[in-house]
Amino acid sequence: MTPFERVDLNKADLEQADPSNADLARAVHGKADLNKTPPAGKALAVTARNVVKAFGERKVLDGLSLDIAPGEFVALLGRSGCGKTTLLRALVGIDAITSGTLSMPPVRAAVFQEPRLMLWKRAWRNVALGVRKPDVQQLALKALAEVGLAERAHAWPATLSGGEAQRVALARALVREPQLLLLDEPFAALDALTRIRMHQLILTLWQAHLPAVLLVTHDVDEALLLADRILVMADGKVAAEISNAGARPRHIDDPQLQEKRRQLLALLGVEEKPTYAAYVAQQGAQLDALHAAQLEARRDAEAQLQTETQPENHSETQRIRVAA
Ligand SMILES: Nc1ncnc2c1ncn2[C@@H]1O[C@H](COP(=O)(O)OP(=O)(O)OP(=O)(O)O)[C@@H](O)[C@H]1O
Ligand SMILES: [Mg+2]
Repeated sequence: MTPFERVDLNKADLEQADPSNADLARAVHGKADLNKTPPAGKALAVTARNVVKAFGERKVLDGLSLDIAPGEFVALLGRSGCGKTTLLRALVGIDAITSGTLSMPPVRAAVFQEPRLMLWKRAWRNVALGVRKPDVQQLALKALAEVGLAERAHAWPATLSGGEAQRVALARALVREPQLLLLDEPFAALDALTRIRMHQLILTLWQAHLPAVLLVTHDVDEALLLADRILVMADGKVAAEISNAGARPRHIDDPQLQEKRRQLLALLGVEEKPTYAAYVAQQGAQLDALHAAQLEARRDAEAQLQTETQPENHSETQRIRVAA
């Protein structure tokens, strides 16, 4: 592993470092920019070159290259089983890679889909766990306050809601003041409203502390709302990336985001889901067609009845008269 030298860049530097920010997708397909040597003089938070991680014969990461700038917010999308968690585990330092080079800052923290709290320790003790700093309780309480949980600091994990438990996990990551924050689908198990609140919280925390962030998600909209850059992983590599450095706050109805959404869904090989409005319109059109067909059938039946009853009644009457 190459030694990491941290350079503090502010947001303006970052925007300069990525002036493209054009709204166009840059399909990378393996070889392009990511295999270049990192720009001299500006250390990167993460540099991965030709990383291979094999489980037995199977290479889950297969020549993956990746750069993340300090303070940059990157989202990582990809089909289930494509190796996203494997990459994150290597970046946290839980798993060693098989070959290639990986360089990341010394202080890293991760939040996973489930909060992974020690049930026999109160919330603040979970946050403080393993932190070797003076006044660790104060630091834990401050981190809990930052995620809006000052009043739950002494609660047992079992008494916390899913969103609260996940915020404790976030505070546990924050208290370490990470230069690299790794998030593996941290909002996936939360309800839609809590998830929106978590998005706002994560953006506030990111802007306050400015760690580099790598967020793994299956939610394309989440990636578009949060990240500066969105990567798509396939075949063990970063297969494509989209620059997404527009101003915040963002709204998903923004036509530029909608265009990127289409591009990302196409890259992921997913058909775009119709919106609810489109669904209602489609159902409405089907109902209209059904009503029109029913109306027409009724008119036909009435017309048929008229032609059947009128002349035959006459002839019947005539016949009866004749018979009489
Ligand atoms: N310890 C392991 N031993 C063997 N195979 C593993 C191990 N860990 C992961 N794999 C395999 O590596 C592949 C990638 O797994 P990984 O968890 O990284 O996928 P993922 O992209 O995070 O998927 P998901 O979106 O479903 O979370 C999977 O096929 C998985 O079965
Ligand atoms: Mg995973």
